[in-house]
Amino acid sequence: MDSNLIVEKRNGHAVVTVNRPKVLNALNRSTVLELDATFAALKDDREVGAVILTGAEKAFVAGADISEMVDMSALEARNWSRLGQEVFSRIENFPRPVIAAINGFALGGGCELALACDIRIASAKAKFGQPEVGLGIIPGFAGTQRLTRLIGKSMSKLLVFSGDTIDAEEALRIGLIDKVVAPEELLATAEAIVGRILAKSPLAVAQAKLAIMRGSEMGSEDGYAFEAETFATCFSGPDQKEGMSAFVEKRKPAFRT
Ligand code: CAA
Repeated sequence: MDSNLIVEKRNGHAVVTVNRPKVLNALNRSTVLELDATFAALKDDREVGAVILTGAEKAFVAGADISEMVDMSALEARNWSRLGQEVFSRIENFPRPVIAAINGFALGGGCELALACDIRIASAKAKFGQPEVGLGIIPGFAGTQRLTRLIGKSMSKLLVFSGDTIDAEEALRIGLIDKVVAPEELLATAEAIVGRILAKSPLAVAQAKLAIMRGSEMGSEDGYAFEAETFATCFSGPDQKEGMSAFVEKRKPAFRT
């Protein structure tokens, strides 16, 4: 099987590039399965403290592969949607940070893939949208859910009902992404953020991810209780002693967990 991804390991993190540039990195079934297998392998790789996800050439990902969906039955469509949802959920629940470096088109399933990442950094050339209704379908890789939770019902309806494509500045304004940079600075910016994260306590970063993700699905009181548990977990490893001792001793901490 030809690979549709490029996986590179650099300085404590991995860069995963969706690489089907002839179809603007559209996600066919084999690419979705390869993403799943790649993230599963990276999960077990202790040398990988974070993952940057990006696309080859002019697109991030221009959606699910339309050529594979044209003749789908309703049952096949449900299975395809469930597969995409499950794989994206596993990416979202990757135990260490995942950063989308959005270099170009992030449409349909591509926007949904970016939404499954923890942090979204975009090139000023990137374009975003959920154009599915123009194909006679709706977003099927959890876009109706993640987009709504991130930018709210009303703005999600505007994007999903109209199928409009928006530029990076507008995506930033509505809270769909977190930062816009010049195209040539995209990967360096993502790597600089990763570098700052990797200098911190891995256990603390992992607990913070859990607290934010699980906590945001709970009511406030349960969320506070869950935060207290994850806060307490930080005191179970050596990093808390190291971080606080380093502060008191006015030196840089050396984190291990
Ligand atoms: N699936 C399959 N092929 C795709 C594709 C997709 N999502 N997006 C682009 N391509 C292919 C094009 O068919 C074209 O192939 P050929 O050269 O063989 O004709 C090639 O990529 C280059 O695309 P264009 O010539 O169209 O490039 P452009 O620069 O003129 O336009 C674009 C770029 C506006 C992104 C346009 O390609 C486009 O509209 N793509 C489709 C976007 C879309 O509708 N995405 C949603 C898919 S449905 C989905 O994702 C469902 C879900 O939620 C799971």
